[in-house]
Amino acid sequence: MTIELLRFSTAGSVDDGKSTLIGRLLYDTKSLFEDQIEAVERASARRGDEYVDLALLTDGLKAEREQKITIDVAYRYFATPKRKFIIADTPGHIQYTRNMVTGASTAELAIVLIDARNGVLTQSKRHGFLATLLRIPHLVIAVNKMDLVDYNEEIYNRIVQEYTEFAAKLEAQDITYIPISALMGDNVVEKSVQMPWYDGPTLLHHLEYVNVGASNNHVDFRYPVQYVLRPNQNFRGFAGQIASGRIRPKEEIVVFPSGLESTIKTVVTAESNLNEAIAGDSVVLTLEDEIDISRGDMIVRKGNLPQKSNEIDATICWMSETPFNANGMYWVQHTTRTVRAFISKLNYKIDVDTMHREDTKTLQLNDIGRVQLTTTEPLFYDRYALNRATGSFILIDPTTNNTVAAGMIRGRSLQVSDLTEGDAETARPKSTNVVWEAGSLMMEKREQLKGHKGAILWFTGLSGSGKSTIANKLEEKLYAENVHTLFLDGDNMRHGLNGDLGFSAADRQENIRRVAEVAKLGLTHGNVVLCSFISPYARDRAFARSLAPDGRFFEIFVKVDIEVAKRRDPKGLYAKALSGEIKEFTGISAPYEEPHQPELVVETDIDSVDAIVEKIVGMLQSQGIISPKS
Ligand code: ADX
Repeated sequence: MTIELLRFSTAGSVDDGKSTLIGRLLYDTKSLFEDQIEAVERASARRGDEYVDLALLTDGLKAEREQKITIDVAYRYFATPKRKFIIADTPGHIQYTRNMVTGASTAELAIVLIDARNGVLTQSKRHGFLATLLRIPHLVIAVNKMDLVDYNEEIYNRIVQEYTEFAAKLEAQDITYIPISALMGDNVVEKSVQMPWYDGPTLLHHLEYVNVGASNNHVDFRYPVQYVLRPNQNFRGFAGQIASGRIRPKEEIVVFPSGLESTIKTVVTAESNLNEAIAGDSVVLTLEDEIDISRGDMIVRKGNLPQKSNEIDATICWMSETPFNANGMYWVQHTTRTVRAFISKLNYKIDVDTMHREDTKTLQLNDIGRVQLTTTEPLFYDRYALNRATGSFILIDPTTNNTVAAGMIRGRSLQVSDLTEGDAETARPKSTNVVWEAGSLMMEKREQLKGHKGAILWFTGLSGSGKSTIANKLEEKLYAENVHTLFLDGDNMRHGLNGDLGFSAADRQENIRRVAEVAKLGLTHGNVVLCSFISPYARDRAFARSLAPDGRFFEIFVKVDIEVAKRRDPKGLYAKALSGEIKEFTGISAPYEEPHQPELVVETDIDSVDAIVEKIVGMLQSQGIISPKS
């Protein structure tokens, strides 16, 4: 069995003890060279310290690193009999954004350090938010410097409670809290005798046993070409690292941007020819046909294509001391490809304390914003939610060559005009003989006729939360106002169009995909489309959103306490689910991922249906979908 690998990053300022923690992990797992250990022990003894100052170790290594100015991030390696570890580390205490963002496409865990004396700071929240934004599957909140608060359990509990309350607003999948002292070595590698009240794992134990690999994309084969190998006349191969998915000889492929097709002849490594290679493998591919391929091209499997656009909707983290320049031209580095781009629209930035969106004219160091990026040549990408490797990019300032931002692609930024012109983009392979029929009436004209705009109202929430009740009442109200609607309801759709689907994650994805496509048709015909689906997975809802132009998709989270939903149990399904009669029931035996940033949250165990309907109508008026009542 091969030893598993865990890549992780650490976030926290120097003062939070990041260097010491990394030093401690290396030292206690005996991952250092003898001379490094001796040097640190000598230096510590010279300073009269009672303990080995491990920060000296990391700081010493840092000096070496800083000479290589082109490298943003340094990697440290260590291993235990259970696993190998790679830590992504960067110098500088204000560079934490960069620390997490660089290499985030492969990190599976992020450690956020909190100084027990200072408690939860804005920065600690920012780290957690960033980790979830980057979809790093596991988060560890290491409450450090417990020695300086007398290993006090209450102080620790207070920090855990405060962070847990904050984290409820995140889409974090897995958070583990561990009280440590990196300096003294408590609960890092060795279990602390100072904190008998803590009965969880040590940090290293957690790192050794946390589940890895589950979040990788194993389906979509994406191979950004790093370089072309031509050692002699008879051999021509393409070297690179498989970003996602898997590939075998004889499979049919397409190359982007050229669109040329061929078949895989061999998958080669230095040692041998492979029957199959998977994400993360560095290989050389040879093809049956002589086709023109160069660095920056992407090889994918025929029938499983990436998206293509030069208008990109993205979340970016600004990583430069120089604020964002609205008129500036940047380089976008996306996989192995570099193209020119500018930020054509800055939608908002996010206030990390409240998670609210704020209007802004610029982005400063560490700001997180949502932007529209226009590239001079199209990018071939997948949404970050589906593929961290092909869904991320960095922005480089061409004058300084510095990385100024890292971005996560949310999708293509759609405009109303895109819909009426025909949507070239597709989430699925399609027959090349199908042409989008735009119809003779443009969406705008249909809207003029109807006297209001089209929109998709996406109601999501647990079974029994009241989605359909609200949507029904809202539809009545809109009808009275002469607003044209289309109502798509989970239970109804599952009788007809989606009658062949069950409730596995894959079936639910297909359910939402079909529904979203129907909703889009309704939208392009100028309707207010009401969609009432549990839609428990964030990525399926993100897909639905990606089909609508900006400002036309309203995610409405119909929130209810699960206990209330169980008590209501309008269809008697919770009872059946609890007794095991129905499998994969949302909230009982299947997950519900709460929306991260819905346009509206309504709570049916607090507000009346009428009050909620009023709220939604108010939102549609203020957002310019329907006109305010005269
Ligand atoms: S979704 O998860 O794919 O979005 P959808 O909203 O279409 O679900 O359908 C949910 C409806 O199916 C529920 O209101 C309920 O009546 C019914 N149902 C039957 N089995 C299940 C199940 N295992 N989980 C959730 N809903 C179920």
